Amino acid sequence: MPDTSSPAWSDQQAKLSLDRLMPRLEARFAGADSDAWAAYAARLRAHFPRLFRLLLHLYGGRYDFFYHLERILEAGAQMWLARPADLKALDAQREADQGWFQSEKMLGGVCYVDLFAGNLAGIRAKIPYFRELGLTYLHLMPLFACPEGENDGGYAVSDYRTVNPALGTMDELADLSRELRGNGISLVVDFVFNHTSDEHRWAKAALAGDPEHQDYYYLFPDRQMPDAYERTLREIFPEVRRGSFTWRPDVNRWVWTTFNSFQWDLNYGNPAVFQAMLEELLFLANAGVEVIRLDAVAFIWKQMGTSCENLPEAHMLIQAFNAMVRIAAPGLLFKSEAIVHPDDVAKYISPEECQLSYNPLLMALLWESLATREVKLLQLSMSYRYRIDPRCTWVNYVRCHDDIGWTFDDGDAGRLGINGYGHRRFLNNFYTGRFGGSFARGLPFQENPQTGDCRISGTCASLTGLEKGLREENTFEVELAVRRILLIHSVILSAGGLPLLYLGDEIGTLNDYSYRNDPAKAGDSRWVHRPFANWAQYAHREEPGAVAARIYGGLRRLITVRKGHPAFAGGDMLVVDPGNGHVFSYVRQSTAGRILVLANFSETEQRISANTIRAQGLSYDFQDLVTGDPLRLVGDLMLDPYQFMWLVAA
Ligand code: GLC
Ligand code: GLC
Repeated sequence: MPDTSSPAWSDQQAKLSLDRLMPRLEARFAGADSDAWAAYAARLRAHFPRLFRLLLHLYGGRYDFFYHLERILEAGAQMWLARPADLKALDAQREADQGWFQSEKMLGGVCYVDLFAGNLAGIRAKIPYFRELGLTYLHLMPLFACPEGENDGGYAVSDYRTVNPALGTMDELADLSRELRGNGISLVVDFVFNHTSDEHRWAKAALAGDPEHQDYYYLFPDRQMPDAYERTLREIFPEVRRGSFTWRPDVNRWVWTTFNSFQWDLNYGNPAVFQAMLEELLFLANAGVEVIRLDAVAFIWKQMGTSCENLPEAHMLIQAFNAMVRIAAPGLLFKSEAIVHPDDVAKYISPEECQLSYNPLLMALLWESLATREVKLLQLSMSYRYRIDPRCTWVNYVRCHDDIGWTFDDGDAGRLGINGYGHRRFLNNFYTGRFGGSFARGLPFQENPQTGDCRISGTCASLTGLEKGLREENTFEVELAVRRILLIHSVILSAGGLPLLYLGDEIGTLNDYSYRNDPAKAGDSRWVHRPFANWAQYAHREEPGAVAARIYGGLRRLITVRKGHPAFAGGDMLVVDPGNGHVFSYVRQSTAGRILVLANFSETEQRISANTIRAQGLSYDFQDLVTGDPLRLVGDLMLDPYQFMWLVAA
């Protein structure tokens, strides 16, 4: 008996299969441009063993495995042959410069098309602004056809190939991607691949009773299976609906809906779903999208008796998509949206899976440090959790369109004498302003009465105290809030990786409570931090003395400094213990030099001993890149409230 689980066996099978499939594919694409076909065939040969191993594991048990395999390879070939010439040229450029996204020049921004600029034409008109800010990466939030009314901010897609008509057309999107690229900006969009809306044509066919499309989703005639699954599932949106299934009287079925009831989880146990979604993915790539944000990666594979999150097969699926992308759209990158335990987040990151990943741990711990004025959990966590494959990169952010969940590891917390459960309660109380003396004005999101679990909504400015300060006309509080905003951004701008700004934060946008008047939004507090861009406030971004200008000017300065220093590119952060529990410190190092970062997370002055600074290789004369001022170390170094320094030897 051959050992069918050994790589050697699978490689041998892969070779035999490809030898058999290749002539069939060649015959099928006989009329194609021969150079284009040769390029496809060469990449297929190079990546097929890996692809085959993954698909064999996922679908090898099915009698029709080879039928589906052939369809998948055909779909890839078709999409490659249809790929526009300028994108094929971009593929070549990216393959020659694989670390392009790790450069210190990279800066990301994210916004909703409608809220930021009305529609795609409006976004196009904002390109001069994006350039002014220094963006090289623009994530446009979901912009495809979706249900009227409730649609989870577009995360319920009804058609992956049609732009929401209110925003524009697919042609406009493709043109925009070209124009952005011409301005040095890569277009990023979501691939919402865990679920479709219940108005997608596959869901409609399923509702009409079509068994083929019913098999695209998880439909159950009674509670038996849903009950059995629910024993081990976590509730993601407990305020919306208890459990993870929705009863549809129109087909008399329970449907698996991890998120909202109108978001139907796709059944990737069915290879036809993999193939269909692959085609949608490559379609986006061919429209000029350069980075795909893989939405809700943790949930894409289900298995009875497990949490149905982060299963090994979820990784294999993404790796199989990745392998097909290397063959059919090699310039495209994946960014994983895994907002889960840090151990699990890290597992999605590799050149064969996702080259980029959100860094929810750093994000959450920046807020944790602001609340506690202590950096011990941040320091410990980053000291061993920040390092990832050097060919990949973190996307570091302080806010996004979603809630803040307290995703740190309870073991890390325990080592520091912090009780995870109690600490999360404190943080939730702090950021909802229930905790006396809190500067934050946040809202609870998806509070679970059973587990006491809760997450936080609110804009960066409102959570850092700007809302409170402005309402109370307290200039001292306003000053502290501005410093907090710059402080946490200074970390994401100096930690390496790709910093991502949630547009609006750069001018101190406050919470907008008007969502409560809109029935399609009132049930979801995340809308409090998804306001319309305030262009009147943007107009003050350079006006001396304006709060918006202090934030904007401060950030612009940091961005410029970052872009000027290769030591901020890619790579690791070497966490330093500065001997002061309020100060987060790390070294950025590259052949281009060494930068010592100090960040004071408290509203009081902090002292760093001269020896600490000297131990980091800085002797008497050095420079703070933040202010540009030369410094001479005579005694200890003093940091002002919330001050941060980026120090280099003079
Ligand atoms: C992602 C999105 C979030 C959405 C969810 C379901 O987590 O960021 O906004 O609710 O997926 O698609
Ligand atoms: C859950 C999911 C995450 C999503 C969030 C939306 O935490 O894990 O993917 O962003 O819900 O609130």
